Amino acid sequence: MSIDIDKISATLEALREIGFGEIYVLRQEEKKDDKSLLLKQLYERLERERKCVLYESASGYVFGEGDPNSPVVFVGEAPGEEEDKLKRPFVGRAGQYLNSKLEEVGLKRERVYITNVVKSRPPGNRPPTKEEMASCLPYLRKEIEIIKPKLIVCLGSTAMKGILGKEYPITKYRGRTFPYPYENSIKVFLTYHPAYVLRNPLSEREFVEDLKTILTLISEA
Ligand code: URA
Repeated sequence: MSIDIDKISATLEALREIGFGEIYVLRQEEKKDDKSLLLKQLYERLERERKCVLYESASGYVFGEGDPNSPVVFVGEAPGEEEDKLKRPFVGRAGQYLNSKLEEVGLKRERVYITNVVKSRPPGNRPPTKEEMASCLPYLRKEIEIIKPKLIVCLGSTAMKGILGKEYPITKYRGRTFPYPYENSIKVFLTYHPAYVLRNPLSEREFVEDLKTILTLISEA
């Protein structure tokens, strides 16, 4: 089959002019796992654009990982030291704790998708600023748009701010569900960040209760 590059360029240019910012080309044999491919392309775009800040002060980006067909996406704050080293989300102490609690309620980490609001480690593990969050949020929203989960779980208040744009006190609002502002069919559930639970062992009972609720919500959806 011959390819007319000029014709393709003209068509792409015309599409760009009418508002198509991104065009993904799926080859026939790749259609089986569209979501993995689209996520890979999104990761490449994140790396190429470098618009999500903090890249230089960390050792690069840490993208989400897990099952792209999962009905649930867990969202944390930002990578920590271990995550920065290994380039994987939630692999440090908080991540291991999260894995063990997921397992306890019958949710396997490999069967869910885990990501962060900010994709690079903030210096000294400080919480990301509003501007830093804003620079990375378009990529998180696109990740969610590709996965189309039934449920987004905000792990802590940074994730809540990023996903809902609200600053409710998490101790009061954990265990509650909200609509996702960008897609009516997706629910947002709030719970503690696992690092908070590790620092406040009295909250563990509520955290496990929330994970059980998550299981119920995704099996009902
Ligand atoms: N804390 C987060 O919020 N994200 C990680 O990936 C690790 C720790």
